[in-house]
Amino acid sequence: MLALSDFQLRAGEKLFLKGPSGSGKSTLLGLISGVLKPGAGALNVLGKDLTAMGAAQRDAFRAAHLGVIFQMFNLLPYLPVMENVTLPAEFSKARAAKAAARSGSPAKEARRLLGRLGVGDAFHDRRASQLSVGQQQRVAVARALMGAPELIVADEPTSALDAEARDGFIDLLIEECAQSEASLLFVSHDAALAQHFDRAVDLRAINDAPEPLPESPPGSFRDSPRGNRPRGTA
Ligand SMILES: Nc1ncnc2c1ncn2[C@@H]1O[C@H](COP(=O)(O)OP(=O)(O)OP(=O)(O)O)[C@@H](O)[C@H]1O
Ligand SMILES: [Mg+2]
Repeated sequence: MLALSDFQLRAGEKLFLKGPSGSGKSTLLGLISGVLKPGAGALNVLGKDLTAMGAAQRDAFRAAHLGVIFQMFNLLPYLPVMENVTLPAEFSKARAAKAAARSGSPAKEARRLLGRLGVGDAFHDRRASQLSVGQQQRVAVARALMGAPELIVADEPTSALDAEARDGFIDLLIEECAQSEASLLFVSHDAALAQHFDRAVDLRAINDAPEPLPESPPGSFRDSPRGNRPRGTA
């Protein structure tokens, strides 16, 4: 489904990845995040060979070095917002230290990020599941940015945001990347956002895997004999 002969994200680069629904964007992000394992080939992230790691090692690597905004957010629904956002600092001493250096403590850094994203104090102690979808997406963004990860991977992170929240998020994201010299891999259907990035790539242009044929009912156009079509027509 995905066959990439060469895909590289340079250190500090901000890349905008696009492609139609089902083209494999989330799959590629899942591979780079270490959630999925490639069937074959080489996969290096931040200088580490992910194919040489087991699932638990990849999870630990992700917790320490990556900020991932999943398309479905993947918040822990029963945990309060604050605990969701400080989770990376619980898993990684390095991220806890960076959060403390920035704001005094992971909890203060969580409040700073949530504040920048427009998630007010009144929501910080609520369970994640009790927030609106757009609020949950912003909590997922704050969690990804906690403790200045070296690589931020964002899967349609603005899909549930209004224009104001989206612009606030993009400003924050670009600022945070500049401050921590993080690399950014960003998937979106919103072409207007591409202007904020160093480079834009269409996944279809770099994927060598044959496209699966769309399903069609028997007797439809694709099944009809081609030989009797007049020459010169498409
Ligand atoms: N868990 C899964 N098991 C089997 N096939 C899957 C799974 N997840 C995705 N696929 C298939 O892999 C292909 C690529 O899916 P993927 O989620 O990477 O697309 P996408 O480009 O992120 O799409 P979208 O823009 O809708 O999020 C699709 O054809 C999909 O049906
Ligand atoms: Mg997707």
